[in-house]
Amino acid sequence: AGKLFQFKLVLLGESAVGKSSLVLRFVKDQFDDYRESTIGAAFLTQTICLDDATTVKFEIWDTAGQERYKSLAPMYYRNANCAVVVYDITQSSSLDKAKSWVKELQRQADPNIVIALAGNKSDLSARRVVETESPAVPRGSEQDWIDAKPYADEAGLLFFETSAKTATNVNELFTSIDKTISSQ
Ligand code: GTP
Ligand code: MG
Repeated sequence: AGKLFQFKLVLLGESAVGKSSLVLRFVKDQFDDYRESTIGAAFLTQTICLDDATTVKFEIWDTAGQERYKSLAPMYYRNANCAVVVYDITQSSSLDKAKSWVKELQRQADPNIVIALAGNKSDLSARRVVETESPAVPRGSEQDWIDAKPYADEAGLLFFETSAKTATNVNELFTSIDKTISSQ
C-alpha cells in the first residue's frame, strides 16, 4: 500500500510579496494581476502524488502580511511541519522582513520545521534588487547589494526563486519541501 503524508504548511512574508499568488498557482494553476490583500489568513488544501507509492496532502495556511495581523502568526506556525517564507526580488525590505520571520521560526516554531525561502516575482528581472549569488567580479558600491542564496545556505533553508505569474519553480518549491520532510 502507498504512504500518505499530511503536512501543515504556513506561508509568511511581507504584504504584497505574492504569498496568496503562489498558493493560487500551486493549488489551482491560476494567477490574478489584481489580488486583494489577505485578511487574517486563508486555508487551502492540495494533494499531490510524489511518486507511485507516496501521496502528500498539504494543509496550507496563507497568512496576511500586513503589520496589523502580525500577532496572529504564531497560531499558524505553531504546529506547522513546513514554512515558506516569501520575499519579492524587487523589494529589498521584503528580504529583511523574510529574515526576521526565519529568526522567529527558528526560535519559536517546531525545531524540526522545514523552512523554504522563496524569492518571488522572478519574472520582473529588470526591476531586480535582490541578487541570487554573489558575483565573481565585485559590483559597484553605488547600491547595497544583498545576495539571497548565501544567506539561505547559512541559515539552512531550502531556496528557490519563483514566479507565481509564469509558474516558474512553483511546483519545484513544494515538491522539494515534500521530499525534505518525507526523508526526515
Ligand atoms: P498579503 O495578503 O497582503 O500579505 O499579500 P500577498 O503576499 O498574499 O501578495 P499577493 O499574492 O496578494 O500579490 C500581491 C501582488 O503581486 C498582486 O498584484 C499579484 O498579482 C502580484 N504578484 C504576485 N506574484 C507575482 C509574480 O510572481 N510576478 C508578478 N509580476 N507579480 C506577482
Ligand atoms: Mg495574501
